[in-house]
Amino acid sequence: MIKMKYFTLIFLILLAIFSSCESEKRIPPKGYLPNSGAATEQLEAAYFWIPQDKLSSPYWKDADFVEVEVTNQSTGNLYDDGFLNMTGTYNGLDDFNKGRNPKVVIKAGYDEENIYILVEWSDTTLNASFKSWLWDGPEDDFKSDTTSGWTSQRNQDNLLFLFEKEGSSDLDVWKWNVATTAPFDQAMNLTLSSNEFTNDSESEFFQRNISGITSRSGPAYEWNGERQEITLENGTKRLLDPSYYLLDDYKMDLIGDVNSGDNVFNNIADCRYCHGPNGNGIADGFTDGGSLNKVFTNKYSREGLVEFIGSTTHEGRGSQYWGRIKNNPEQVDDLVAFLRGIAGVPGNILLTPDNSAEVKAVSNVTVGGIETENSVYKVLFIRKLNTGKSSDVVFSPDQTYKFSIRLSDNDEINFIGATNLELTFNSKEL
Ligand code: HEC
Repeated sequence: MIKMKYFTLIFLILLAIFSSCESEKRIPPKGYLPNSGAATEQLEAAYFWIPQDKLSSPYWKDADFVEVEVTNQSTGNLYDDGFLNMTGTYNGLDDFNKGRNPKVVIKAGYDEENIYILVEWSDTTLNASFKSWLWDGPEDDFKSDTTSGWTSQRNQDNLLFLFEKEGSSDLDVWKWNVATTAPFDQAMNLTLSSNEFTNDSESEFFQRNISGITSRSGPAYEWNGERQEITLENGTKRLLDPSYYLLDDYKMDLIGDVNSGDNVFNNIADCRYCHGPNGNGIADGFTDGGSLNKVFTNKYSREGLVEFIGSTTHEGRGSQYWGRIKNNPEQVDDLVAFLRGIAGVPGNILLTPDNSAEVKAVSNVTVGGIETENSVYKVLFIRKLNTGKSSDVVFSPDQTYKFSIRLSDNDEINFIGATNLELTFNSKEL
């Protein structure tokens, strides 16, 4: 009798262990079908039943990956007049990531609704400026254009995926960019047709901040001094640094005359005595105001800037200089316009895009935006397998897709990348 009880008990325990294994086998706890975490020839998307939609989602540590061998795709192109120091990938691979291997790696997965593609690459610099306006900015080694007056300068990392579509020569393009799309956790959904990009979505990400029609007409707007906060689709709030970003709802007309401000700074108030001609600093260290042509002065509102310049901290050293103009509001406005111009006025106005945009893109880029050393960029693209739009490639797990990748640094016309990559989908079956 006792023996029987034991047998029953053991049987029940075994059954419990067995059935728990069974259920675990049917639903692995992590929510995806693991692959081996090895390098593969082509990109293989694993199946998820729990979305792996964060950079920290466990699948991305276990995933198979493709090491993309990037080559020069386009080099030696220069921009039009007025656009300087923006050809950071002029020599292609020799320039990208200071010539070191950018180690581009791609991983992928899918669930019933979405495709997920994670890209990682190394690039040591991070600068969220994009076509900033600079007054009397630096010269460009590749160009003989004059740099006096307004020019557009600075730029940053760009990443494009280009997918071939069956029965069409058009390419479906996802474009991610540090200065325009990264703050919104999105990418632009474009079509490349006969070398022309068009935006599939009604909602644009940015507009040029321009006061006229030529590439030297200068900025129309500056920051209005309020905290630039956006709320993302998932409710996260994000604060954007006014040194790099100008949000549509936080702009005002750029006031003051930059040309007169130049004269106030260099001659009338003689700020150059401590800050050097045009705020470029003084090399011999005789006086120590430091250079003012870095972006940091744009973190101040107009009032903040004026308050600082006239403060005892600063005025202790420069009071007799500020005192020459402080009671002349026009000269003060002109001076601030000049300070904005040498620090760089954001080149674009960010328009808050429609949250229903097709391509999501979460990245590890901190959009506070201080120019820092960065090591590895990570961008996770998420899009519906089928958006229902004819301009978008439809991903169906029983097919193979050809795609290319393009990367550029400080550039949108010279880039490195790889073509003829393939994407396949692993089976959903265990
Ligand atoms: C006698 C020297 C001197 C003169 C003249 C002078 N400054 Fe300065 N300025 C400094 C020093 C030193 C600093 C940095 C130390 C500090 O932050 O107080 C500084 C810092 C600044 C900053 C940077 C604030 C920051 O974020 O650190 C601004 C902007 C500035 N000065 C504007 C001006 C303007 C505009 C004038 C002309 C009206 C002027 N300065 C004249 C010495 C001077």
